Amino acid sequence: MEMVPRISRAQKMDALSSMSTAVGYKAALLAAGSLGKFFPLLMTAAGTIAPARVFVIGAGVAGLQAIATSRRLGAVVEAFDVRPAVREEVQSLGATFVAPDLVAEAAVDKGGYAKALSEEQHAREQKLLEERVKMNDVVITTAMIPGKPAPRLITAAMVRQMKPGSVIVDLAAETGGNCELTRPGEKIVAHEVTIIGFLDLATMLPTHASQMYSRNISALLLHLVKDGQLAPDFDDEITRESCFTRGTKPSEMAAARSGS
Ligand code: NAI
Repeated sequence: MEMVPRISRAQKMDALSSMSTAVGYKAALLAAGSLGKFFPLLMTAAGTIAPARVFVIGAGVAGLQAIATSRRLGAVVEAFDVRPAVREEVQSLGATFVAPDLVAEAAVDKGGYAKALSEEQHAREQKLLEERVKMNDVVITTAMIPGKPAPRLITAAMVRQMKPGSVIVDLAAETGGNCELTRPGEKIVAHEVTIIGFLDLATMLPTHASQMYSRNISALLLHLVKDGQLAPDFDDEITRESCFTRGTKPSEMAAARSGS
């Protein structure tokens, strides 16, 4: 399923997007649940309560859903991504895109995905994060590079500068984490900051995650069927790209996979 190309025609089969939608939504809720503050602005008899500030790093599918969910809960949200195309999407959700001058076409590969940054670009991003991370109550990180370890963006020194009680949700924990202190699969407190590195956020929304995934699978299967018969057309991009093996014996497959 993860080999289905990310093209418009294949959106209904895109399981990566389905799972990222669930994960981004849940990340915002986990952050709200772990923060000892309200998300929205409240005018109460006991005084005015300022809204929580949320910073989302990486605004792909999960990041955009985390922004939308945090906004619905009333937080003030800002975001950053290295891909220039993301800026308008972030703004259309009512969030601020920080440091638009730091984005670069050079950070995007042919498929539209982010590439690993050059040393100079990485240093500039670190400088931006040093300024922004400590100003926010919640940081949700989703920065990932396909096939590579997640970029290390939040250092222990940045965590130390955050306000006590702040929350980091690191959605890149599975590929090493965007935060230096993340422990994959765990929720820890370091320097009075809660750092969540859970790996199974989609499973916390089992009904809709399963419903979306099953729709993705049925859309792919229907794509491979013609007149009630399995009839894969290997000239078709979706079929070709999502085909794992064809015309290869299982023994040859195993050898190819082990690299022998
Ligand atoms: P992902 O999970 O691989 O990465 C998450 C985000 O992290 C990306 O937006 C990436 O630009 C960002 N990122 C990487 N390094 C970063 C850094 N150093 N600092 C800040 N941000 C950083 O991405 P996801 O959500 O799986 O997909 C994003 C890509 O897939 C985009 O190119 C998008 O246009 C494409 N896509 C296309 C669809 C379609 O049907 N046309 C559907 C879904 C995604």
